[in-house]
Formats: sequence, structure tokens, C-alpha cells
Amino acid sequence: MYSDLAIFSGRAHPELANAICARLGRALGNVDVFEFSNENIFVQYQENVRMRDVYLVQPFCTPVNTSVMELLIMIDAAKRASAGRITAVIPYYAYGRSDKKDQPRVPITARLLANMLETAGADRILTMNLHAGQIQGFFNIPLDELNGLYPVSAYFKTKQLDNYTVVATDVGGEKRARDMAVRLNLPLAIIDKRRIGNSESAEAMHVIGEVEGRDCLILDDEISTAGTIVSAASALRQHGARELIVGCYHPILSGPAVERLKSLDLREIVVTDTVPIDDSKRLPNMTVIPVAPQFGDAIGRIHSGQSVGALFQ
Ligand code: R5P
Repeated sequence: MYSDLAIFSGRAHPELANAICARLGRALGNVDVFEFSNENIFVQYQENVRMRDVYLVQPFCTPVNTSVMELLIMIDAAKRASAGRITAVIPYYAYGRSDKKDQPRVPITARLLANMLETAGADRILTMNLHAGQIQGFFNIPLDELNGLYPVSAYFKTKQLDNYTVVATDVGGEKRARDMAVRLNLPLAIIDKRRIGNSESAEAMHVIGEVEGRDCLILDDEISTAGTIVSAASALRQHGARELIVGCYHPILSGPAVERLKSLDLREIVVTDTVPIDDSKRLPNMTVIPVAPQFGDAIGRIHSGQSVGALFQ
């Protein structure tokens, strides 16, 4: 059995780590994390972690590769300090789209990352909305995947969405959108999206389902450049859709995303805070749903050996 729990944050998203601690009614642990002038990262825990149940909060957000490396180093430092158990709390798992060898001579980086986390010494993973569920199987250690569906659908239930259809941005997102449609008791449509090579641009081809005269809630797991959302919005409008709301779990908002979203005349953009959102990217029609309650409750349950699945019932 482990002694008390200890929660530490890397530099990626301290606001979320603090909110998780507030949910659990405890203070964030004290750790020094900084970079030398040669870009080497240094970590030193400023309190004892020996035999403690340690949770390290670090979404893989920008700068992505620094966030990844920093977490690996934090895990290593905790391991060498004889932590009892180390859970990597990764609200957003980057490289999720690199989850299969679907072209010659390409990597499976989501798997490589899993190997690295295990090698560093992680005993468990706690994450939310992986790009593809099968990434769970890239790990040989226990992984709990939380679902933004619950807090986001709870928010949508407070709105009048009777004339809405939930729309998946591609066939791969059909289950995600169907789960939302079921919770909101709304119909479902799917965009048949074809990616163009390895570029970030995508092209929406067909709309499967009835959207003419309907309002649409476009749901995706993440918005990166917002190219997918632009294509989806354009396809839906061509097919006679009226008002549009966009929902996503991970608002990465890279490159031209914010300008693109501004240009779309959306009723609302609903996201979560699995990654930090810079003030300059918080549009007036953006609603941010906090995920600290889910992570705080899950950490409390993992620590006390209770079911995490019960959170979803
Ligand atoms: C793709 O399969 C994902 O579900 C998202 O649609 C994609 O990551 C969004 O990227 P972007 O915003 O750059 O189109």
C-alpha cells in the first residue's frame, strides 16, 4: 500500500493541476522544473516522495516535444526518489493520429510514446479522449481513459438544441458523435472526409444523413488547424444546414485555427480545458468546460482503490 497521494505539475498546464488539487482539497506538490540555457530540462522534487502515490499532471500541449520530454524526466526523477507508484496524468495525448502504419516507411509514434513512458517508470496512465481507443492497447500498464462526453453533454443539455443534428467530422469519429447524439437524444450525420496526402489540409466529400433545414452540432476530438471544421461547415452549409455549433475535447488551436473559426459564423464553440487556451485564442463565442472535476474524482478513486468506471454510470 502507498502512503498519501502527491500531485505535481510540469510546466505545460499548472492551472489544470491546481484546479485538480482544489477539487481534491489538497495543495499542489513542490517541484522545480526548469531548462538550462542549452535546453536541457532539470527536475527536482522539493518534498519527499518516497513510497507516496504520485500523480504527475502534464498534457502534451505546445511546445509538444518539450512537454513530452519534461514528463519523462519527471517520471524518472520520481522513480529514482523511490515513489511508491507513479501515475502519468496526460489530459491530452499528442501524436494520437500516428497510431498505425498505413503508408510505407512511417512510424507509429503513439506507440513509441507509450514505450517511452513505461521505460521512464510510469506505473499507470490517466488520460482523456484518446484519438483512437486502441491506443490504450499500446500500453502494458493500466490506463484509465476519461471521457469529455459527460461534462460537455451536460452543458449541451442546458441549451435548447431540439432542431440540432450531431455531426461527426469523419467516419472515424462516428462513435464519438453517436455517443453525444444518444445522450442528447438527437439524430446523427457523418461527413465523409478524405485527407489529402500528409498535408494538414482536408477535404470534406459527402454528408451521410439528413441536415437540410437542420441546425448542426459538429463534434470532433480535437481542433488543430481547424481545416476539418472549415470543410465540415462548408459541406453542411452546401447541404442546407442552418445554425452551426462546434464542440471538441482538445482545443489545440494551432496555426490558422483561430482566424478560421472566426470566419465561420458559428453560434458557439464548446471546448474543454485539457490543454491551456491562451487569452488571444479565447473567442467571444467560446465556452470552456472544466475537466478538473473528472480528473480530481478519478485520482481520488485510483488512490483509494475504487472503481473509475463508476464515474461514468
Ligand atoms: C482527425 O482524424 C481528427 O479527428 C481531427 O479531425 C483532426 O485532428 C483535426 O485537425 P485539423 O483541425 O487540423 O483539421
